[in-house]
Amino acid sequence: MISRRSFLSGLAAASAGIALARPAFSNPAESGTIQTRAIPSSGERLPVIGMGSSGSFEVGNSAAELDPLREVLKRFFAGGATVIDTAPSYGTAEDVIGQLLEELGLRSKTFLATKLGTSGREAGLAQFQNSLKRLRTDKVELLQVHNLRDWRTQFEVIKELKAQGKTRYTGLTHYVDSGHDELAEVVRTVKPDFLQINYSVISRSAEQKVFPVARELGVAVLINRAFDDGRLFSKVQGKSLPSWAAEAGITSWAQAFLRFALSHPAVTTVIPATGKPDRQSDNLKAGSGPALTEAQRQSLINTVG
Ligand SMILES: NC(=O)c1ccc[n+]([C@@H]2O[C@H](COP(=O)([O-])OP(=O)(O)OC[C@H]3O[C@@H](n4cnc5c(N)ncnc54)[C@H](OP(=O)(O)O)[C@@H]3O)[C@@H](O)[C@H]2O)c1
Repeated sequence: MISRRSFLSGLAAASAGIALARPAFSNPAESGTIQTRAIPSSGERLPVIGMGSSGSFEVGNSAAELDPLREVLKRFFAGGATVIDTAPSYGTAEDVIGQLLEELGLRSKTFLATKLGTSGREAGLAQFQNSLKRLRTDKVELLQVHNLRDWRTQFEVIKELKAQGKTRYTGLTHYVDSGHDELAEVVRTVKPDFLQINYSVISRSAEQKVFPVARELGVAVLINRAFDDGRLFSKVQGKSLPSWAAEAGITSWAQAFLRFALSHPAVTTVIPATGKPDRQSDNLKAGSGPALTEAQRQSLINTVG
């Protein structure tokens, strides 16, 4: 556990850095009040709720498959969110995101993150060219080494692409606790703009192994698997929300789990994945309201644990 003093002082610093995001649409009925946090390396602010695309956007081209995802994206931007994470290895996800962003005219509002997940310089460059084609764009906002694969070569490729203006930020990702030590070591070595890691009410290893390095070096943090791939929901099936939920502005377990991740001061943005519009609206609601107190965080750990 992080100490109470360092946690609370971090929270104060984090809340001091929180502001309201500019909504993506001018219609007030559609606009959100999602909070933003700064990317340490640039000061650019990002909405605290983003979205992933593994599984949820790996679909075919039928109207029945695309219609709900179009609505998922519309609600996402209407709520003031911008950060979308994908990867060349997520089946058709890059194609579907590229197609729908183009169709909705939303590419310029998107903070688009993809990955390099291959070995060798030529393969890395070729994979990125293919991602650009699939995403229907000529650059991305963030390019990450996927699960540290061939990281020495791939991170050099990403730095080169950043120098060419093909990505604005560099990053590294991992997704399981057993990768945290190595991720922290590589973060120290290459000092990326971003890291992406798993963190949830039941998977808290990042607090000890990854977040301290991110805070020390000023690295932005994206959180994947904040629902533990959905497993957290089965752990609270039939359980009522905590008694303090209403006062914290929380009306669902999804919001509680996302607010848990966001209440750690090292975290910049959490990227839950859903293909269901109502769940997207639910997840976006976690982007406003105060950070959870240490007692509220502990209560979630006790309930889910
Ligand atoms: N190595 C890496 O770089 C790495 C690894 C893992 C993940 N990621 C990124 O992080 C993203 C998120 O991680 P994840 O997709 O593995 O797991 P996750 O976000 O923890 O969980 C996704 C699951 O939660 C369900 N869900 C979403 N919102 C919900 C809600 N409001 N209520 C109830 N259920 C809800 C989804 O089901 P429905 O779709 O049916 O709603 C899906 O089954 C990925 O999509 C990917 O972009 C990166």
